[in-house]
Amino acid sequence: MTALSPSNAVAVIGAGTMGAGIVQVAATAGHTVYLFDTSPEAIDKGIAQIEKFLARSVSKGRMDDEKRIAILGRIKRCDKLEDLAPVKLVIEAIVENIDIKRSVFSQLEDILDEDAILASNTSSISITEIAAKLKRPERMVGMHFFNPAPIMKLVEIIHGLVTDKQVADIAFATAEAWGKKVVHAKSTPGFIVNRVARPFYSEALRILQEGGADIPTIDSCIRESGGFRMGPFELMDLIGNDINFSVTQSVYNAYFQEPRYRPSLIQQEQVAAGRYGRKSGQGYYDYSEGAVTPEASTADSAPAPTEITLIGENSLLDPLVTLAEAAGIKVNKGDTDELSGFMIDDVLVLLSDGTPASELSNVLSSPAIVFDLALDYKAASRIALAKGDQVSDEDLAKAVGFFQALGKKVSVIDDCPGLIVMRIVAMLANEGSDAVYQGVTNPKGVDIAMMNGVNYPKGPLQWAQDIGLDHIFGVLDALSSFYGEDRYRTSPLIRRAVIAGKDLV
Ligand code: NAI
Repeated sequence: MTALSPSNAVAVIGAGTMGAGIVQVAATAGHTVYLFDTSPEAIDKGIAQIEKFLARSVSKGRMDDEKRIAILGRIKRCDKLEDLAPVKLVIEAIVENIDIKRSVFSQLEDILDEDAILASNTSSISITEIAAKLKRPERMVGMHFFNPAPIMKLVEIIHGLVTDKQVADIAFATAEAWGKKVVHAKSTPGFIVNRVARPFYSEALRILQEGGADIPTIDSCIRESGGFRMGPFELMDLIGNDINFSVTQSVYNAYFQEPRYRPSLIQQEQVAAGRYGRKSGQGYYDYSEGAVTPEASTADSAPAPTEITLIGENSLLDPLVTLAEAAGIKVNKGDTDELSGFMIDDVLVLLSDGTPASELSNVLSSPAIVFDLALDYKAASRIALAKGDQVSDEDLAKAVGFFQALGKKVSVIDDCPGLIVMRIVAMLANEGSDAVYQGVTNPKGVDIAMMNGVNYPKGPLQWAQDIGLDHIFGVLDALSSFYGEDRYRTSPLIRRAVIAGKDLV
């Protein structure tokens, strides 16, 4: 399907944060863009936002002045909806209210040509529902940009129940021509990103609530081991705890109180206290002037082992073997085993498979310590460890000394199942798999969406596959048996792929 040619004018309704960003994207791609807002001041502000962005691009040498002037010249302010008559595509980015959105679209139907495409940037309202009372509901589609629209690469193309496939395909191709990474998604609560991302926050909150680790330790492990740009608490403070809480509630309720999305009491308390995050000066962290940023808990230095034995044949751990040898530690090759990790004296140091270390110590009749997943064990600067409740501090020190000898900081956390990164990645992959299983999108759609909508370092489904789908299946099964909650049930898609020995992506 071909994109709308830049010779076709497009329109944006709503000149707020998102509308102004979308205007900039379309005008940069060469379209004349009509901008309408009920508030003329909002248009002034929106255009000022674009001017500031473009001026910065010129001053940083990313754009020449001629281009800046041309882009601004293509933006046309409009005082009334009737001015939008010539356009073939309207993108609405007004207040998140179904009645107001419906009223705008029904007025537009009388103004625009019959073949015009009506798109909404809504984050949380059903495209099916917005379209329901229109004369031509099949012309309505979602074009969900991410904030800030000129920078964030993703656009989700949302199909309502009766959206014409051709309409969605044109919207897709047009967003792609605008330089975006684009995915198709069925109109379901949260679409892809706002649904699949829920465990990033909810599992972090759950680990905190259960005393597994403190806030800076969870954030640091997610960044320094998981390779994410921000930890969950830093990100919630940036998004705003009020907004994040309201998205969680909206997805939870839209799925009829699905336990997977149940909001956290900790977050509710933050909101009740007005601790919204950066914008209010206080959230999970204190942003007031002179405030000291709390540090992750980091273990004191312990002696390095002289030799270790590798357990299992998990290629994920190869970088740790290389680092160990480079650090002068003799690495013996042990027997092939279902477990992955190392033996230091009689202490088992195992990659988390979701089973708590206390249980492993019992079942394996040896002191067991589990370590967390890293995106890349060579690059990771921190590793979380947990010892079984019955394991001594002397035995823990052997594992701490081993990872420290490889140049890693070590965070010793409580024995919570799956630790931090493994648990969150497994739950993200589980949620992504359910979205695919329920026909919201395809596996590539999940990965593209999460990498470009929220900057994840790897798509969760590809990541699960790289870790080993059977390993992730084991982690999810262990979480499910530990908690006995519906929230931790394994996605049928993962179960079926593991049974059939098939890939997910
Ligand atoms: P905003 O509050 O910054 O801007 C909304 C603008 O719409 C205001 O300038 C307001 O004057 C105007 N407006 C209100 N009613 C109107 C009407 N009947 N006709 C014309 N203009 C009208 O809102 P924001 O954040 O830009 O969000 C807009 C839409 O984009 C919402 O549907 C929201 O769910 C969605 N969205 C927001 C994201 C975000 O991070 N802020 C991300 C992705 C989507």
